[in-house]
Amino acid sequence: MLITRRADFSASHVCRLERLSDEANRALYGADSNPHGHGHNYVIEVTLEGDPEPETGMVFDLKRLKDVLHREVVEPMDHRFLNLEVPPFNTVVPTTENLAIEVWRRIEPHLAGPRVRLHGVRVYETEDLYVDYFGGQP
Ligand code: NI
Repeated sequence: MLITRRADFSASHVCRLERLSDEANRALYGADSNPHGHGHNYVIEVTLEGDPEPETGMVFDLKRLKDVLHREVVEPMDHRFLNLEVPPFNTVVPTTENLAIEVWRRIEPHLAGPRVRLHGVRVYETEDLYVDYFGGQP
């Protein structure tokens, strides 16, 4: 069984490689390469996979899941400039792909149990664009 919880936060970012010229960064990342940054209203969906515990009927304590998402992702990233304030994005380009990997890395250790595991992380950068990450080597 899969169960999904959604959370959202607003943050700004820049996608650019310092070794490249402005022109090359624009060609690679488009408007996202503007060094002044811009904001997104990110939406994350975290999906757990497991069997409901017979007595409680729950795969995982959803209040606890909400708390983990808030503590590990929303609180540290909300209203932040990711490149400047949220490691590893001082050195890792904060694309939607890398954000999904980082969300996984932050929450996975808190969500493992005998009957449950983290199945996937979905990150929407806009309504039209999302990334799914299912763990493993990025
Ligand atoms: Ni962007």
